[in-house]
Parts: sequence; structure tokens; C-alpha cells
Amino acid sequence: MKIAILGMGAVGRGLLEMADQKDLGLVVTGIADSKSALMDKDGIHIDEVLEAKRVHGFCGDKSLSAVDIVNHADYDVLVEVTPTNATTGEPALTFIRSALERGKHVVTSNKGPIARKYSLLQSLAEKHGVSIRFEATVCGAIPVMHTLTQGLAGNRVLAVFGVLNGTSNYILTRMEAEGLTYEQALLEAREMGYAEADPTYDVKGIDAAIKLVILSNTIWGLDTVLEDVEITGIDCLTTDALRLADDQNCTIRLIAQSIPSRGVLRVSPRILPKAHPLVVEGTLNAVTIETDMAGEITMIGKGAGSVETASAIIGDLMFIRDHYAGCH
Ligand SMILES: NC(=O)c1ccc[n+]([C@@H]2O[C@H](COP(=O)([O-])OP(=O)(O)OC[C@H]3O[C@@H](n4cnc5c(N)ncnc54)[C@H](OP(=O)(O)O)[C@@H]3O)[C@@H](O)[C@H]2O)c1
Repeated sequence: MKIAILGMGAVGRGLLEMADQKDLGLVVTGIADSKSALMDKDGIHIDEVLEAKRVHGFCGDKSLSAVDIVNHADYDVLVEVTPTNATTGEPALTFIRSALERGKHVVTSNKGPIARKYSLLQSLAEKHGVSIRFEATVCGAIPVMHTLTQGLAGNRVLAVFGVLNGTSNYILTRMEAEGLTYEQALLEAREMGYAEADPTYDVKGIDAAIKLVILSNTIWGLDTVLEDVEITGIDCLTTDALRLADDQNCTIRLIAQSIPSRGVLRVSPRILPKAHPLVVEGTLNAVTIETDMAGEITMIGKGAGSVETASAIIGDLMFIRDHYAGCH
């Protein structure tokens, strides 16, 4: 299966390394970063492109760009792993639309385009007889989308609850375990590389809300957007609040919940018994799906990371290979 990859950051590199190490039948025919691009219909040497990026900071020819790869490279699937723009979804949204219009499948880890234009992209994919898959956008390595769309097919999903942001969860875990203040725990999260220099999206609940929008739209075919979510972050939580919860053998977690029958679409800190399945530690993610036949299912796993996210992308690629003729 021929793939073109846009983005050579943590996720793009993780995918390239796994494609190189494992016998997955993936041939990379196009690749781009923000400054350059490379295409070869017979396949790019992955080790050489990784080395070029490491040494020079760019992957290929500076006269080429991602747009050239999308529109002219010879590929079956576009793997879109550029940075998230939650406001417009661009430029990823245009890359994805162009690939779908060329009749190419798309796999992305980018929340922006899916949270903003899911129904448009889905109908474009249907019109052109291809697939758009985005397992890596929610809960990293946890195969929540596969579980919802394949494993739980035929079930009616009643509600979904989750710890969808690893950075917030790490901060809460450290406040609880060591009695750190919010500011101290945030500083530690930054030092550990879990929090961005600007942690607003994570600690104010916006990242979790974007993922909740993606989950809700996928499960129930809704057309919700970020602005529909009621959001409270963890940035005002005090050590005293966690201590009070602890006195009752409880703790606090940032919980995203969607219950359409009750009109609930919310991200907020919630007090939970310590034995609750959603009380996970550190940067882990967890998601509970409530269904009519299967009952309640909770999955726990790594919500981010280079190879962990590549795992979700590869799952999507293998799905496309197995379900569409001509992709192997
Ligand atoms: N990291 C994770 O654990 C994780 C988990 C789940 C989802 N995601 C999502 O996956 C995506 C990629 O994450 P990441 O951590 O790999 O990001 P990253 O390390 O910041 O890398 C982004 C890559 O995209 C390239 N890029 C930026 N603008 C571009 C453009 N216009 N055309 C082509 N390439 C462009 C950058 O080029 P340069 O190298 O030239 O700067 C860089 O190689 C993001 O949307 C993120 O939210 C990440």
C-alpha cells in the first residue's frame, strides 16, 4: 500500500520508524514537513529521510511542499500528521479535502479538521468511494474508534465518559499524591515534557472538549462543535479540594461526558471514588462506553507518544488495506 505522509514530527517519525522496522507492506511515496517535501513513486528510503531530517532539519527538496505531495504524488492513502489548528482546521483541512477529491483514502491524527468539519469530510469520502479514519485523534493508542464502529456494531451507545487529556491527569495525580499546588504540578509537567509552554488547551479542558466533540459526532452522527461543549478546566483547583475528596476516599479527575438523551456535553473536574475505573494515574487516558447490549466497557491506555500514536495510525492503515480493493 502506497502512503504519503504530511508531517515529520513526533508522530510522523514514529510512523516512519515502525514502517521501516515492521513488515507492514507500506511503501512511502511522498513525504513533507513545513519546509520541504520529497516524492518517489517507487518508494522513498525511510532510513535516509529520517537521517536527512535529523541532520539538516528538513526532509527533502525545498522547492516542493505538502501541497505538491497531496496533489501530485502517487499514493493510496494520505497520512496527515501536521499540527492541530482547533479554530480553522487549516492547513490540514485543505490537504485532506484535496486528497479525498483525488479519490485517496485519508488517515489523520489531527483533531482540528475532524472536530470542525467531520460531516463534510465524511460525505466527501463517501462521494469518492474512499475512507477517512482518525483513530489517533482521541485517546492515542486506545482503539476507541475501532471498538465503537466494529466491535460494538449493532449496539446502541447511550453515553460516553472519559479522561481524554493526559497532561491534566498528570497534574491532578501529582497534586493528589504529593500535595503539590496546581502551579507546582504544572511546572513539573512542563519539566517532564508532558505540558506545552502554553498549557491553556490542556488545563482549561479545551483539548478534552475537542476530543469529546469528535467522539460524539462519530458515535451519534451529530454535528456538534467545540462551542457546544460546557467546559471547566482544572486550573482553579486547589490542593484543599483534593484533600477534602481524599478524606472521603475519593479523588478528582477531569471528566469529559456526552449523554445526548439528557443533553449533556460537558468537560469538568468531577469527584470520583478512588476505585472508579476512570481514576487512572499519570498521563494515562481512559474511556467508558455505555451501551444497550454490551453494558459498560472501559478502556485504559496511553493517550499520546510517538510510537503509541503511530500504533493507532497503523491500525487505520491496515483497516483500509483489508477493506478496499487495490490497497495492497
Ligand atoms: N504527539 C502525540 O503524542 C500526538 C498524539 C495524538 C495526536 N497528535 C496530533 O498529531 C499531529 C502531529 O503531532 P506531532 O506531535 O507529531 O507534532 P509535531 O511534533 O509538532 O510535528 C508536526 C510536523 O508537521 C510539520 N508541519 C507543520 N506545518 C506543515 C505544513 N504546512 N505542511 C507540512 N508539514 C507541516 C512540521 O514540520 P517541521 O518539522 O518542519 O517543523 C512537523 O514535522 C498533531 O495534530 C497532534 O495534535 C499527536
